[in-house]
Amino acid sequence: MTKTYYITTPIYYVNDKPHIGHAYTSLACDVLARCMRLDGREVKFLTGTDEHGQKVEKSAQKAGKTPQQFTNEVSMHFQNLAKIMNFSHDDFIRTTEERHKKGAQALWQKLEQNGHIYLGKYEGWYSVRDEAFYAESELIDGKAPTGADIEWVEEPSYFFKLSNLGDKLLEYYEQNPDFIKPKSRRNEVISFVKSGLLDLSISRTSFSWGITVPGDEKHIMYVWLDALTNYISALGFPAQTADFTKFWPADLHIIGKDITRFHAIYWPAFLIAADITLPKTITAHGWWTNEGEKISKSLGNVIDPVKLVEEFGLDATRYFLMREINFGNDGNFARKNMILRINSELANNIGNLVQRTLSFIHKNANGIVPQVSAEFIADIYQNNALIAQAKDLYNKFMADMETQNIRGAIKKIIDLSSNANIYIDQEAPWSLRKTNPDKMLQVLYFLIEIFRYLAIYLQPFTPDSASKILDFLNVEARQFKHLNFEHHLKPGAKLKQPEPIFPRFKEELC
Ligand code: MSP
Repeated sequence: MTKTYYITTPIYYVNDKPHIGHAYTSLACDVLARCMRLDGREVKFLTGTDEHGQKVEKSAQKAGKTPQQFTNEVSMHFQNLAKIMNFSHDDFIRTTEERHKKGAQALWQKLEQNGHIYLGKYEGWYSVRDEAFYAESELIDGKAPTGADIEWVEEPSYFFKLSNLGDKLLEYYEQNPDFIKPKSRRNEVISFVKSGLLDLSISRTSFSWGITVPGDEKHIMYVWLDALTNYISALGFPAQTADFTKFWPADLHIIGKDITRFHAIYWPAFLIAADITLPKTITAHGWWTNEGEKISKSLGNVIDPVKLVEEFGLDATRYFLMREINFGNDGNFARKNMILRINSELANNIGNLVQRTLSFIHKNANGIVPQVSAEFIADIYQNNALIAQAKDLYNKFMADMETQNIRGAIKKIIDLSSNANIYIDQEAPWSLRKTNPDKMLQVLYFLIEIFRYLAIYLQPFTPDSASKILDFLNVEARQFKHLNFEHHLKPGAKLKQPEPIFPRFKEELC
C-alpha cells in the first residue's frame, strides 16, 4: 500500500495581508510535501484561512466592510500568495465554508455528548490580537505575555473541562517524545501543563462573527476551537470519508512557535475528549526578524514576500528562506546575506557549473550525452566516490526531511555540488579537448550524471529551476526512486541548449 503523508499549515488570520512569516510557514510545508511526493508517497497538503473571531470582525469594521466581504478579499491575498510562491497544496480551506462549519459543530457535539462541556460565566482577561484567554498570573506589566493588549471580559460562556485532561496529556507527551518538536517547545508545553490547567472558555456572546454553538444560538464558538477543527473538517469530518480514513491522523502540523499552546495542548485535549486519534507530530518553527529588529507593522518593517519574489526571483527566494536558518530556530533576514547566498550557492556553485558544462558539451561534444562505454558507466557506479556520495545522499537527505531538518538537507546538496566543482577544476575538460578527447567525454558524462542527481534533489526547494536542468538533460524520470544506476543518462541521447539558471544578483555589497 502506498504510504501517505498529511501535512498542514496553520490557517491564517485574514485581518491583514500576508507577510514573510506566513510565506515561511507555508513554504516549509510545501518543500516537505513536494519531497514526500517525489519519494512516492500519497500526499495531502492542506492550507487555508482562519476567518472568524473578534479580531477579523474588528478589522472588517475598520475597513468599512461586512466581515464576509472583507474575509473574501483578504483570503484572496493568501490564495494569490500561494500561486506566486508556487505552493503545491491539495486543498485550501476557509473556515467560513459550509463543510468546515459542519465539522466544527460536529466536534462540539461530540465533546458535549462525552460530557466535556458545561455552561458557566467567564470572568477574566482576553487578548483580541492573540484570540487567547490569559490567567492573571501570566500577565506581564498589564499585558499578555506576547505583549498584546488585553481586556476584561465578563460573559456567559461554555467551558471545556481542560483541567481534567492534564494527566492524560502528560502521559501522551511522555509516551510520544516526538509529538512536539523541537525539544525546547516540548519542555515549555510540559511545564505549562504540569503547572495545572484551567478549564477553557469555548464560547463568546459579546460579538457574532463566528460559528454558532449547536443548540444555543446566542453563543458562538471560540475561534480556536473553530479553527483547529479545520485539520479534520477538510478531510470531511464528521463523515468517515475515504480521505479521513486515509490521511488522519496527520503526519505533521507545522506551526510558528507563538501558537504552540493551542496546537500542543488544546488541540490534543479536544481530540482525546472526542475519541479521535492525535496527530503524529507538531513542529514549531521560530520567528524571523528584519535586519535584527522584531518585525511589526508599527515599526514599518514588515517584509512582503511578493516583493522579495519580484526582486530576487521565486526560486532564489524559496531557497534563501529554507537555507538561511535551522528550522525551529529564530532567524534574521539580512539583505546582504540573501545576496551572498544567492550568488555563492545558487549562481556560482550550481548555476555556473551546470551552465558552463552544458554549453561546453554543445560547443565541443555535439550537444548529446557523451558517448562513453557501458563499462565506463558501470565502473563509475561501482568505484567512484562522488557517484557514491550522490546515491548515498538519498538516505541522509530523507532522514533530514523526515525530521524537518530542511537546512541540513539543503547543505548536503550544496556539498555534492561543491565536490562536482572540485572535480571539474581537477579534470579540466577544456584542456583535455586536444590532449585526450576520450577522457574529456568521460569527464563530461560523469558531470552531467551528477547534475541529474543534483536537479532531482533540488526539486522540492527550487522546483522551476530544477525542472529546467532536468529539461536540459532530457530527463523524464524525476522521482527519488530514479536516483540509481538503472536510470543513468543514456550516451548519445540529445541534450537541450542550456539557458541561464540561477542568475547572479548584481547589487554591489558594501
Ligand atoms: N489563525 C491562527 C492559526 C490557526 S491554526 C488552527 C494564526 N494565524 S496567523 O496568521 O497569525 O499566523 C500564522 C503563522 O504565521 C503562525 O504560525 C506564525 O507563527 C507565523 N508568523 C507570523 N509572524 C512571523 C514571523 N515574523 N516569523 C515567522 N513566522 C511568523 O496564528
